[in-house]
Amino acid sequence: MHTPEEDARARDAADPGHRHLFLVPPAEGGRHPEVAYLAGNSLGLQPRATREELLADLDAWRRLGVEGHLEAERPWLPYHELLTAPAARLVGARPAETVVMNSLTVNLHLLMVSFYRPAGERTRIVIEDSAFPSDSYAVRSQARFHGLDPDTAVVRLRPRPGEDTLRTQDVLDFLAAEGHTVALLLLGGVNYLTGELMDIPAITAAGRAAGAVVGWDLAHAAGNVPLSLHDWDVDFAAWCSYKYLNSGPGALAGVFVHERHLGKEDLPRFEGWWSTEAATRFEMTAVSRPPATVEAWQISNPPIFAMGPVRTSLELFDSVGMTALRERSLRLTGYLETLLDEVTADRPLTVITPRDPERRGCQLSVRIGAGSANELTKRLRHEHGVIADAREPDVVRFAPVPLYSTYHDCWRVADALAATVEATS
Ligand SMILES: Cc1ncc(COP(=O)(O)O)c(C=O)c1O
Repeated sequence: MHTPEEDARARDAADPGHRHLFLVPPAEGGRHPEVAYLAGNSLGLQPRATREELLADLDAWRRLGVEGHLEAERPWLPYHELLTAPAARLVGARPAETVVMNSLTVNLHLLMVSFYRPAGERTRIVIEDSAFPSDSYAVRSQARFHGLDPDTAVVRLRPRPGEDTLRTQDVLDFLAAEGHTVALLLLGGVNYLTGELMDIPAITAAGRAAGAVVGWDLAHAAGNVPLSLHDWDVDFAAWCSYKYLNSGPGALAGVFVHERHLGKEDLPRFEGWWSTEAATRFEMTAVSRPPATVEAWQISNPPIFAMGPVRTSLELFDSVGMTALRERSLRLTGYLETLLDEVTADRPLTVITPRDPERRGCQLSVRIGAGSANELTKRLRHEHGVIADAREPDVVRFAPVPLYSTYHDCWRVADALAATVEATS
């Protein structure tokens, strides 16, 4: 008979993932040397390859100074182009539809400049009530920018009373009833709090059929679940690279604009010298000549030292492949769910993430019935070396990331929760 811990170890031997490619922090508490890292939904771990790659870029600057723009091993002028194809593969887009630039919320604003164009009775922006605060602030400020009252221009879709997650049908019903007033539907592909994966193709189709523009915040979806943004006819999307894409804190973000919007001169955009065709960049003209690609949304020359880690990470995703990652993700998260079912059965803990694997990525969110989420995560860390993250007042998120998390990490989560949260019976 195996103990549950031995069982987890056996699963790891059979399904090892790619942990060896990552640097796992040492544990400050508990009996294991490394942390059980379940916070990749917040900040992914550092790939081993990142340091060398970053140092090589720094070295090119030391050796070449300004000549590095053209002569570095990876020349800086077209550096962002190295990221385009792998980023496009990751989100199911065409290269012309994808670019890596700026940060997520900045990109959402730049995209709303083009795609939130309130007119007549079609003035509203629809988000989910549990949207990440940055998105809420962004859309409210966009409404104000257009001279609208954010309290009426922004609609927040809530789950049904007593439910934690939004039903696709409720979004579709809202669109059927009020779609004619919606200028922009902007939802999270995977909700940051509950881990719910929205039905992106169905909602996109309904939103567009209702005459709205449909954009997605894919912060918690990119690198977590397979995406087909082009085929799903999504209008635009943006994502960050510091969570599942393991590109470091504040890493550069990604943008998708569907090909039907590219090269449109009547679409408002903010511009700078990186918005113009690369070949015209040094013509020093007064008027830009934007390319018919999403690169027209670029503004500034990009920070090269921030691009390297994204490139390294995207190479990793390319070599492993999202299909294989999703398969391992389903196994790992299913295993964690089974363990959590046992621990939560007699404790004031409830998993609020949908049980249907098709409606979630790797994250499972647990609502705690007593005490503070911050306090619980502190105890998990200091007493057991388990790194999760808290969303006050009462949600703790655990994300077994298929690239580097292990079954043993999942076992440690359940073991630590059992030891930390008192059973009720
Ligand atoms: C869903 C979502 N949107 C937006 C943001 C904000 O991202 P940034 O600070 O990179 O603009 C986050 C950050 O965690 C997020 O989870």
